[in-house]
Amino acid sequence: MSRIIAAACTAAALLLSSSAFAQEGDVAAGETVFKKCSACHNVNSDKSKVGPSLQGVIGRQPGIVEGFKYSKAMVDFGADKVWDDAQLTAYLANPRGVVKGTRMAFAGLKDPKEITDVIAYLKTFSPAP
Ligand code: HEC
Repeated sequence: MSRIIAAACTAAALLLSSSAFAQEGDVAAGETVFKKCSACHNVNSDKSKVGPSLQGVIGRQPGIVEGFKYSKAMVDFGADKVWDDAQLTAYLANPRGVVKGTRMAFAGLKDPKEITDVIAYLKTFSPAP
């Protein structure tokens, strides 16, 4: 009996520790980070500004918002990709390094936590993958 309890405790401890280390972004913090993007991007509407609307961007192919004039670089980049966590993480860290020739005049987010947080925020405006 005590062995069963011990096993259950180990399992519970593993669950707890794995969730503590998971790369979960903080939506509220991400909303604050998004202030750096909101001059150019809407996320709560499908209207584009200087940049394309980011509503539903998670899981979307890069460069396909209707009516938005993308750079050729972004359209070419997007040909065989979707915006998932990995692509967004790379792009937001270094937009002009990842999509050479992008029209997005943004230096990038230096802090990896800001990137995971803003992605978590963007996800709240995207259908679950
Ligand atoms: C100065 C304006 C500006 C700022 C600030 C800016 N962007 Fe952009 N963004 C753009 C433009 C313009 C494009 C289109 C780029 C192209 O066509 O090469 C774009 C494209 C994107 C795309 C690709 C969208 C698609 O439909 O494929 C994502 C994702 C994105 N931006 C996220 C962000 C995030 C997140 C931030 C804030 C951390 C941010 N941007 C800040 C102007 C901006």
